[in-house]
Amino acid sequence: MCGIVGIIQKNETKIGEEIIHALQKLEYRGYDSLGVAIIEDDKLIIQKDKGKINEVIEKIDIAPISGKIAIGHTRWATHGPPSKINAHPHVSCDGKIAVVHNGIIENFQELRRNLKEKGHTFSSETDTEVISHLIEDFFVNEHLSFREAVIKAIKQLVGTYAICVISTNAPQRIYCAKKDSPLVIGLNSNRIFVASDIPAFLDQTQQVVLLHDNEFVEIRSDGYNIFNLISMEQITRAPYTVSWKAEMAQKAGYPHFMLKEIHEQPNSLYNYVRMKQKSVKKVAEKIYVAERIFFVAAGTAYYSTLTGEYLVRKFNKKLSQSIIASEFESILNLIDENTVVVPVSQSGETMDTILGIKKAKEQGASILSIVNVVGSTITRYSDEVIYLHAGPEIGVAATKTYLAQTIANWDVGLELGLLSGSFNKTEYESHRKKFNQLPKIVKTTITNNEVQARTVANWFSKKKSGFYLARGINVQTANEGALKMKEISYIHCESYPAGESKHGPIALVEKDFPVVFIAPKDHTYRLIQSNIMEMNARGASTIGVIEENDDEIKNLVTWSFKIPQGYSEIFSTIPYVVPLQLLAYYTAVKRGYSPDKPRNLAKSVTVL
Ligand code: G6P
Repeated sequence: MCGIVGIIQKNETKIGEEIIHALQKLEYRGYDSLGVAIIEDDKLIIQKDKGKINEVIEKIDIAPISGKIAIGHTRWATHGPPSKINAHPHVSCDGKIAVVHNGIIENFQELRRNLKEKGHTFSSETDTEVISHLIEDFFVNEHLSFREAVIKAIKQLVGTYAICVISTNAPQRIYCAKKDSPLVIGLNSNRIFVASDIPAFLDQTQQVVLLHDNEFVEIRSDGYNIFNLISMEQITRAPYTVSWKAEMAQKAGYPHFMLKEIHEQPNSLYNYVRMKQKSVKKVAEKIYVAERIFFVAAGTAYYSTLTGEYLVRKFNKKLSQSIIASEFESILNLIDENTVVVPVSQSGETMDTILGIKKAKEQGASILSIVNVVGSTITRYSDEVIYLHAGPEIGVAATKTYLAQTIANWDVGLELGLLSGSFNKTEYESHRKKFNQLPKIVKTTITNNEVQARTVANWFSKKKSGFYLARGINVQTANEGALKMKEISYIHCESYPAGESKHGPIALVEKDFPVVFIAPKDHTYRLIQSNIMEMNARGASTIGVIEENDDEIKNLVTWSFKIPQGYSEIFSTIPYVVPLQLLAYYTAVKRGYSPDKPRNLAKSVTVL
C-alpha cells in the first residue's frame, strides 16, 4: 500500500537523508517505486524511480539534498503500472507544485479531461496527477491564494485520499488532507512529520496526532493547524504518546500481519466494490460467448476460482473447469480461439500459472485475468484484467486477497447471470445491493466470531488431524479452511464434499475427532444435517459454520460460528470462510507458531 511522508524542520540540514530514512521505515507496507520532492534554495527538486529504496538511492543521490521541507512516497501501483513516470510526487505544468497521495481518486478521468481542455499537460497515467494540476489551475487562473487553491482542489476530489502538497509558491508549509486513507502527525522539538503510518517517525518521536476524515492541515516548522474541510472551522487536538514498539506499530497494534490482514478484509472488499471496474462486464461478455471456459490458479487462488467455475455452469449453463496451474498441460488439447482462460493470482507472478496462460495464448485463447499486483507478468499476457485492489499482503497465508479473488468471481458471475437471463434486471439490482453490503457483512462476521474462534482454537490446537466438509459451492470454503489450518498450524486437515466423506475418510473418525461443517441455509442444508449426524454417531466433535438464527444445526454441533442472515443462497463463499481464517490463526498461535512465516512456504512461487 502506498506510503506517504512529509517533513518540515527548523534548521536547514540534509533533509534528503531524513526523508529517505522515513520512507525506509514504511517499506514493510509493500511498494514498487518511490520518489521525493524537496524545496532547496527556493527550487522544487523531484527525484523518483521504479524499484526498491536501496536500488533507487544507488542511482540517484538523494541524501545530500538540504532544505527545510520535503515530501516522499512509496507507491503500490493502482492506476498505471510501476514506472518512473507513474511514481509520485506528481507536479504541476510549471513544476512548482508537488503532490503525494495514498488512495484512489474516483473522478480523476473527468477532472483530467477538463484540465486537458484548459491546456494542462499530463505526464503520467495516475489518478494523483490531477491534484497538482487542479491546484495550479486555481492558483494561476483563478488567482486564489495558494492555501485556498489547495482547499478548492481537494474539495473537487471524489474517492479516498491522504494527500501532502508542497510548493515554491508557499515554501514554508506542508498542506495535507485526509479522507478514508490514514494520515498522522508526529512532533519533536526540531521537526514535524506527517505520514500514512506511525512507524515512519517512531524512532524520532512518540508524540502523535491522529487526523480524521475530511480534515485539512497546515503544517509549519513551529506548529500545525487542523481544520474541518467542510466548515473550515479550526479543530484543537493535542498530541498523545504512543507506547508501541516499531514492530508493533507496523502491524497497527496486531500481534501478526495475518490477523491485521483478516481485519483489513472489510476495507479491501470495500475498495473492490466501489471501483466498479468496466473490465468485469467485458470479462463476463467474453465468457458468455466462449465455447469453453477454464479457470487456472495455484494454492488459495485456485480455491477462489471454484466460485467462478460454479457460477459459469449455473448462470451460463456451460461446462467450465478450474485447473490447478501445474496441471494445465492436461487440457491444452482443448484450447483454441473459442476458449477463454481466466487466470486468478494475487502476485501475478506464479510461474505455473504464467506458463499455462502463455501456452493458451499461443493456441489462440483469450486471457481474462483477476490479479492483485498491477503491471505484473500475468496482466501483461492478458486481454482484460480485473484488479483486486486489496493492497499488498504480507502474511504468507493469503486471507484478504482470497476474499478479494472470490468477490471478483462473484462480480463476474452476477454479470453472467444478467446476460444469460438467469435473473432479470430487478433481481440483478437486488443482488447488487447485497453485493455492496459484503464489506459490512464480513466486518460483522469478524466481530461476532473472534472470541469463539479463540475458544475453539484452544481445543483444536491439541488435535493431530481434522476434516472440513461442505456441499455445493462451499466445498471451496472447506478446501480453503483446511488449507489455512494445515499451512500455519501444521495440523493435518483434509477437505471433502460432505457426501464423499462416507466413501473412505469416515474410517478415520473416532471419539473427539474434529469435523468442521460449512452449513449455510441453501439447497445443501438437509443433506449436511444428515452428514453431521453421521459424524456425531461415530463420536466426532462437530463444528458448524451456520446462519445466525439456525438453532437446528446449532443444537447438533459441539461448536458453532454464526454468519449474518441473508448470505446463504448467494455470496456464501465470502462470509462463511472468515471464521475458518480466525480459527486457523488462533490455533497456530496457541500451538506457538508464527502464522506470518509458515515453514517451507513462500508468498510467491516463481519456479515450476
Ligand atoms: C503460494 C502462496 C499461496 C498462494 C499461491 C498462489 O503457494 O503461498 O498463498 O495462494 O502461491 O499465488 P498467487 O500469487 O498466484 O495468488
